[in-house]
Amino acid sequence: MEHEYVRIFDTTLRDGEQTPGVSLTPEEKMEIAFQLDKLGVDVIEAGFPSASRGEEKAVKEIANAGLRAHVCALTRALRSDIDVALKCDVKYIHTFISTSEIQVKYALNMTFEQVIEAAVDSVQYIKDHGALCEFSPMDATRTDINFLKRICRAVEEAGADYINIPDTVGIMMPKAMEQLIRDLRNSLRVPLSVHCHNDFGLAVANSLAGVEGGAVQVHVTVNGLGERAGNAALEEVVLALHLLYNRKTRINTKLIYETSKLVSRLTGVMVQPNKAIVGENAFAHESGIHTKGVVVKPITFEPFSPDLIGRQRKLIAGKHAGRHGIRAELEEAGFHPTEEQLNEIVARVKELGDKGKMVTDADLLAIARTVMGKAVEEKIVELSDLAVVTGIRVIPTASVKLIIDGKEYVAAETGVGPVDAAIRAIQKITDSLANVRLKEYRLEALTGGSDAVAEVIIKVEDRDGNVVSARGAREDIVMASVEAMINGINKILSKRLRKT
Ligand code: KIV
Ligand code: ZN
Repeated sequence: MEHEYVRIFDTTLRDGEQTPGVSLTPEEKMEIAFQLDKLGVDVIEAGFPSASRGEEKAVKEIANAGLRAHVCALTRALRSDIDVALKCDVKYIHTFISTSEIQVKYALNMTFEQVIEAAVDSVQYIKDHGALCEFSPMDATRTDINFLKRICRAVEEAGADYINIPDTVGIMMPKAMEQLIRDLRNSLRVPLSVHCHNDFGLAVANSLAGVEGGAVQVHVTVNGLGERAGNAALEEVVLALHLLYNRKTRINTKLIYETSKLVSRLTGVMVQPNKAIVGENAFAHESGIHTKGVVVKPITFEPFSPDLIGRQRKLIAGKHAGRHGIRAELEEAGFHPTEEQLNEIVARVKELGDKGKMVTDADLLAIARTVMGKAVEEKIVELSDLAVVTGIRVIPTASVKLIIDGKEYVAAETGVGPVDAAIRAIQKITDSLANVRLKEYRLEALTGGSDAVAEVIIKVEDRDGNVVSARGAREDIVMASVEAMINGINKILSKRLRKT
């Protein structure tokens, strides 16, 4: 009989915390636990209390936080570990012992009989203390199948509520996993769970195969954190179960993205951009064909709506971007460029893309503001050429060539820096025409990195007291400043022309 809901056992706070370099404070663990509870996981493995005093404290606090989910503690199959877990007030204990020949011999230094005895004793001890008990034969997938069945039957007899089958070093293949779980299921009555590691990138596939074989529970971590290459990622397992396998879980998928972000922020482990479901690029479209498709009908190039996991689609403007996608993105942001303006915006985006730059939403809007703002004004003054020199023991100097009414004017000036020099050179040429002074100057780097698009926002004033603001957006700060200044001068001149 298929269970209605596949149980989600989250081990972000235990196996996930075993990710190299990750160590969470009790407060951080608590914040994640609250989020996991809100997300709807069935079990939160809060930690391994015997590991440290801090871990014990964190598990105890989470156990007493009044969460809806079961709060579970991990223990070795040792009464002393179980006592520490019981002191943390948990009502659910996950106990484990190695069962593969290699681990029994080299990690435990015990006989197989001693392993069975310790497992049975621990399960009975947990049950005698009234807690739910989940038992894991560690390294089950490298364990002799006859011994695996023997120990599973023994702990079932001893009262285990769940048996979890760990693929501890991630060596399973989906077909073999499905077969193993089916085989164990035919020999046991206790519900089965799977715990898959990602050493070959198969953790999610193996977990899903385990469910196909009859497992009713999957161990997962947010963002696939965990020892070495990590565990099966919660977000991937859950979405695949819901959308590809037509199985239910109690997860509120709308909270998946915010949970991923929180875990990434608190653990300091960045999510790779092309990671399924929660990676930055998972719902980003750049190529013209794709953006055109998703704008018309999202399902053309998306397996499901980003809304389902609480995030938004991103149309990336880059060298593969098409007019359609760029126009759609601009319209969504309230910009309605003319054909001519759109041509210039697209040309600028592609120029940046050809230089290897990704143009983000913020960059695109800055470019649009500049192009569209400029077009409202007449282009009385136009930049033809610009050269700047700067450095140590060099006085920053700029030479500028402007075209005004079809005639070329050239001027050079020095300044405290290249931006100042360039603005002075422009003023030198346009003084008689506009006599414009810079009142305010603000520079914003829109995206990170030294090749970010810079947006310069200025306020300028002429001798009659006309004040206008203008902007420029380029990857070069000097160019962005010059563009803003020329836009400002054109705005003032247009204003004056309208008055006459
Ligand atoms: O990977 C593993 O075997 C484990 C056990 C503690 C279940 O994490
Ligand atoms: Zn593990």
